[in-house]
Amino acid sequence: MSPELESLSKSCQPFIPTIIAFCCNWCSYGAADLAGVNRTKYPTNLRIVRVMCSGMVHADMVINSLLKGADGVMVLGCHMGDCHYINGNEKAARRAEVIQEMLPDYGLEAQRFRIEWISAAEGGKFAQTAQEMTDLITKLGPNPFKKKGEEPDAC
Ligand code: FES
Repeated sequence: MSPELESLSKSCQPFIPTIIAFCCNWCSYGAADLAGVNRTKYPTNLRIVRVMCSGMVHADMVINSLLKGADGVMVLGCHMGDCHYINGNEKAARRAEVIQEMLPDYGLEAQRFRIEWISAAEGGKFAQTAQEMTDLITKLGPNPFKKKGEEPDAC
């Protein structure tokens, strides 16, 4: 392929969002594993970060991920009443409200952050949540904090 054609084809790449998923070791990480074992398809643009509990994910981890160019962030934890650390997911739920209020102050859409409860037995829900988040972020477009050269060119 000629350099001109190669450059043109690169500039017409569709936007594929980078989504960070903080997954609780005891539930959603297992759900991601189950989705893989069951060969349930889910978007490959997810970057999974395993944490011991959703309650360990502080607001600055979410905000910093977005400020460093992630297009979306999810926190996925155990269902209410199932947290292995008693009430970590309740803390995460309260933090989520604050995070969603803070994001517009940074010029970011609140939808770039999502919290969800997914048990280790819910591989299908994990895949569906990943797909929904990917579809939503694709519609929103790239994070304006992405560094120059990381955003896709318009075709
Ligand atoms: Fe899973 Fe706390 S142990 S959310």
